[in-house]
Amino acid sequence: MISSLPITLGSIYPNLQSWIAGRNPSKVLVVSDINTNKYCLPLIREALPPNTIHFVLEPGIDQHLEQVKTLDTAERVWTIMHQHAIDRHGLVLNLGGGVVTDLGGFCAAVYKRGIPYASVPTSLLAMTDAAIGGKTGVDFLGLKNMLGVVVQPEHVFVDPIFLQTLPPRELVSGYAEMVKHALLGERELLDSITSMGPPLRAEPPAMFKTLTLSIQTKISIVQADPMEKGLRQLLNFGHTIGHALESWFLQSPDPLTHGEAVAIGLIAESYLARSTQLQWLNTILGASFQHRNIPEWSFEALWANALHDKKNKQGTVQMAVPGKNPFELQMLATERRDFEKALRYYNNLANTR
Ligand code: GLY
Repeated sequence: MISSLPITLGSIYPNLQSWIAGRNPSKVLVVSDINTNKYCLPLIREALPPNTIHFVLEPGIDQHLEQVKTLDTAERVWTIMHQHAIDRHGLVLNLGGGVVTDLGGFCAAVYKRGIPYASVPTSLLAMTDAAIGGKTGVDFLGLKNMLGVVVQPEHVFVDPIFLQTLPPRELVSGYAEMVKHALLGERELLDSITSMGPPLRAEPPAMFKTLTLSIQTKISIVQADPMEKGLRQLLNFGHTIGHALESWFLQSPDPLTHGEAVAIGLIAESYLARSTQLQWLNTILGASFQHRNIPEWSFEALWANALHDKKNKQGTVQMAVPGKNPFELQMLATERRDFEKALRYYNNLANTR
């Protein structure tokens, strides 16, 4: 355990096995995707009791999992839970990245008004962010995480061994969230990230230290404000623009990963906030993420997406950015003109790389 939130960081054995045995669930539903089912399930199979059933998420038509993080898929999970008569003493065990932990957590949180769930995050993004803090949900009408609830998992098992199963593009996706955590005010994490790159190198000792510091940052914010009444909104830094981009690019032949969208969002929002870390950010992220041009003709649709952001008030786009002091929240009320200026600033970085 690395804090009072139930998270184990380190080898999955024997922790998962003894934890499940201790809970003695009536049934276990493992929610995975086709990759984690193939590459990660073998690493936990022996920990699973005989009364385990499986739901394996298949990617959408363009091979992207985010495209199936929908109510339709949740309905399929609930149908399986019903068909196998899972009761409130059952357990949903998520084995995957952020899509799986969001979807599986949501299905557990809503089924029979809530059954327990635990997560084994397998991507860097899920380890450092998505699986921690209890946010669950699905996308709706093409917008990210429009439906969901905050329900804490019973336990999260973070084992960096799963990082070895990740394709490089997925590994680097989680890097953006660690960089975000560093910018919120955790100096040791910032130094640790600086010493790891750029570009990101995921050698085990350095990665383990950075991951631990990043998770600790996330935990301390979630503990201070679990229901996102104030401070937790800081974790949304980079996400107003990031989510608008991610939703829009989902329709394109080459969608952005969540981390790629957040990396652009961090740069654009830091520009708007006149952050003193902007240069550092451009260097760190520029070396690890490929530059993606955001076409001018998409700006109107991107602004429309940003107007749906959950932080907004009375039709204004509100961005959560770090204040002057560590772990200080600053809300930036943003107009369309500035939003577009920030996107142009990002586009122009291509000329400086
Ligand atoms: N991923 C942002 C949060 O958990 O609040």
